[in-house]
Amino acid sequence: MSQGDSQVSAGIGAASVVEGPAPVPSRRIGALAALWPYLRRYRMRLLVAFLLLCAGSVVMLTVPLALRDLIDKGFSANAPMHGHFMALFGLASVWGVIVAARYYQVSWIGERVTADLRSAVYSRMLGQSPEFFETTQTGEVLSRLTGDTTLVQTVVGSSISMGLRSLFQFAGGMVMLAATSAKLFAITVVLLLGVVIPLVAIGRRVRRLSRESQDRIADTSAVAGEVLNAIPTVQAFTHEAWEAQRYDRTVESSFASAIRRTRMRSAMTAAMIAGVFGAIVFVLWLGAQAVVAGTMSAGDLAAFVMYAVLTAGGVGVLAEVWGDVMRAAGATERLMELLSAEPTIRAPAAPQVLPELSQARVEFEQVLFHYPSRPLTAALDHIDLQIGEGETVALVGPSGAGKTTLFQLLLRYYDVGSGVIRFNGVDLRKLDPQALRAHIGIVPQDAVIFSADAYDNIRYGNEHATEAEVMAAARAALADEFIQRLPQGYRTFLGERGVRISGGQRQRIAIARAILKNPPLLLLDEATSALDAESEALVQRGLEAAMRGRTTLIIAHRLSTVQRADRIVVLEHGRIVEQGSPAELMAQGGLYARLASFQIAL
Ligand SMILES: Nc1ncnc2c1ncn2[C@@H]1O[C@H](COP(=O)(O)OP(=O)(O)OP(=O)(O)O)[C@@H](O)[C@H]1O
Ligand SMILES: [Mg+2]
Repeated sequence: MSQGDSQVSAGIGAASVVEGPAPVPSRRIGALAALWPYLRRYRMRLLVAFLLLCAGSVVMLTVPLALRDLIDKGFSANAPMHGHFMALFGLASVWGVIVAARYYQVSWIGERVTADLRSAVYSRMLGQSPEFFETTQTGEVLSRLTGDTTLVQTVVGSSISMGLRSLFQFAGGMVMLAATSAKLFAITVVLLLGVVIPLVAIGRRVRRLSRESQDRIADTSAVAGEVLNAIPTVQAFTHEAWEAQRYDRTVESSFASAIRRTRMRSAMTAAMIAGVFGAIVFVLWLGAQAVVAGTMSAGDLAAFVMYAVLTAGGVGVLAEVWGDVMRAAGATERLMELLSAEPTIRAPAAPQVLPELSQARVEFEQVLFHYPSRPLTAALDHIDLQIGEGETVALVGPSGAGKTTLFQLLLRYYDVGSGVIRFNGVDLRKLDPQALRAHIGIVPQDAVIFSADAYDNIRYGNEHATEAEVMAAARAALADEFIQRLPQGYRTFLGERGVRISGGQRQRIAIARAILKNPPLLLLDEATSALDAESEALVQRGLEAAMRGRTTLIIAHRLSTVQRADRIVVLEHGRIVEQGSPAELMAQGGLYARLASFQIAL
């Protein structure tokens, strides 16, 4: 949707913030057909809604007839006057109930289909490989999840039913008009065409202006969203006044655009009221003459005028609904794009069962890998590496050497270009990725904390863990002590992305999470960010606890970590350049010895 796009694309001070994106063109209406699988599940409700719609239209079209009878017969002294009023009242009540029932049914379907669509898109997104998110921005996915599904909801939950009702109203009204008075019908058609056609044109312009004004509003939130996320930086550079001005400009531009729309809409309302009433008064005037001349009854005239109003109303609503339907067609098309996205990494038809070893074994054999977005540079170049059961291997190497890439391949976020990676002797491509990942625990470079409390954040590692197990994991990771000192202990909310705890504390929670998962293979990506000596020692000891008794592959940036490893593998430019025990590598005096001489920053 255009709103989301503009939020995502808005860079710092980008001119596009002021200009806004081009309005989304209406797309093929046929795109709506893709919604059918979601509607089909609620066939019965659709049928009920349709029947109610038909019944409501029939009742609506009989109201003017009842009114006609009332006027023609209800006023004579000897006629059963009460009966006519009762009938009219009864008719109105039935109509009300039918309309309410239809409204409920249709809104229910709209809400249901939207909820189903949201869940479907979301779970589809959860299954996508990282490659997908390299090309699709998460902001865009979010805006489709909220914005586009809301458009679909408007159309399924109201516009289509309103449109159908108006169509019935229009068609039925025309027939009844012709039946009531053919001559007046002909005159009315000409008059209404004269009124409605210009109104539709103005309506289109109003719609364009209102889309423009929505884009402007999206711009203001794009500007605000970006800046509010970076308040400390804004304040550090004392850009508050400048940012306020920038926001002012977008707000003013959105105000100006809203006023343009309102002006057009006011003019349209005036024209509509004058035009429609003018036409009706004119027809009334002609009809009154016919009534005086005795060629038409007063009731017929009243019924005629009511039908004319119903017909004109039907046309107006149809014109309005059309825009919604077209926008929803575009939204549906975009949602279907997301729904049809196939993850690049999938389980084979008959995945192999992973042999259960108490400690994992990993082999890289002649692994060559290029990131899909960078096909010319090899991120990993003919890697041969065996990691035995229970072994601790440290990966070191300069930034960009391919260390994290090795982890990505082990978790099978990407498939190797050539060569093979085996886990417990099985080619990763023959495994279900979920089964594989269930055997791997990872502590990433930047610890990820969800906006929940400490307890739930640790339990993310194993949702079946008991409270005692969660506490034990926290103790092993040396996280227990600081958690106990938090205001509500384990139930302390850690803030969005864990902003309420320190970097070292975040890492220890991530370590506790990995310990709780208790995987046969542990992947540790040591944080590069410098911690103070004490927190570092704590994190180190936490890591040691996590490594105990399992195969571990650790990307190390600190000499102290490296020295605890059984073996060191030195990577540079995607290749293994040295391998051996810390002492051996020191003696060789190669890249490792050079890196180690700087102590840290490996
Ligand atoms: N998603 C990606 N698409 C394309 N290229 C990538 C992608 N991720 C990493 N790279 C490139 O692959 C190379 C290896 O990256 P990798 O993340 O494995 O480095 P690293 O050894 O973990 O470095 P650091 O110590 O800085 O974390 C780098 O040149 C990097 O620019
Ligand atoms: Mg890395």
